[in-house]
Amino acid sequence: MKHIAIVNGPNLNLLGTRQPEIYGGQSFDDYFQGLQARWLGVTLTAFQSNVEGEIINELQRLAKSGTCDGIVLNAAAYSHTSIAIADTLKAIETPVILVHISNVFSRETERKTDLMAASARGLICGLGLSGYDLAVRALM
Ligand code: DQA
Repeated sequence: MKHIAIVNGPNLNLLGTRQPEIYGGQSFDDYFQGLQARWLGVTLTAFQSNVEGEIINELQRLAKSGTCDGIVLNAAAYSHTSIAIADTLKAIETPVILVHISNVFSRETERKTDLMAASARGLICGLGLSGYDLAVRALM
């Protein structure tokens, strides 16, 4: 069975209550249960951390495991700031699709740059949580 891993960055553990006008009213855990039910033939895992180094460790771990077929990454605010996570994406071969729940290009200037984008297979942005479904579909 294929393994697709979702890696979420800072504050995405607060989905459902965090700025619902931007990120919607559903928690990630709730959404993830539905996602797993829609993708029964796929092993889907989800990891979240508010800590930059933990995200890097997880990306390296997944890439080294040899059993991960693709990564869906929402690095959240680190997308705009983290050269370290961008370096990790350059160093690993596992295909990565980036997701932003909100349309970062219609928001503040500092969100319009995504340092991860050059190393990703694709980027889905502004389609709400359904971006994760679309990313899994793309990787499959
Ligand atoms: C986000 C957009 C980022 O700018 C923000 O810092 C987030 C979430 C999104 O999914 O829309 O935390 O990555």
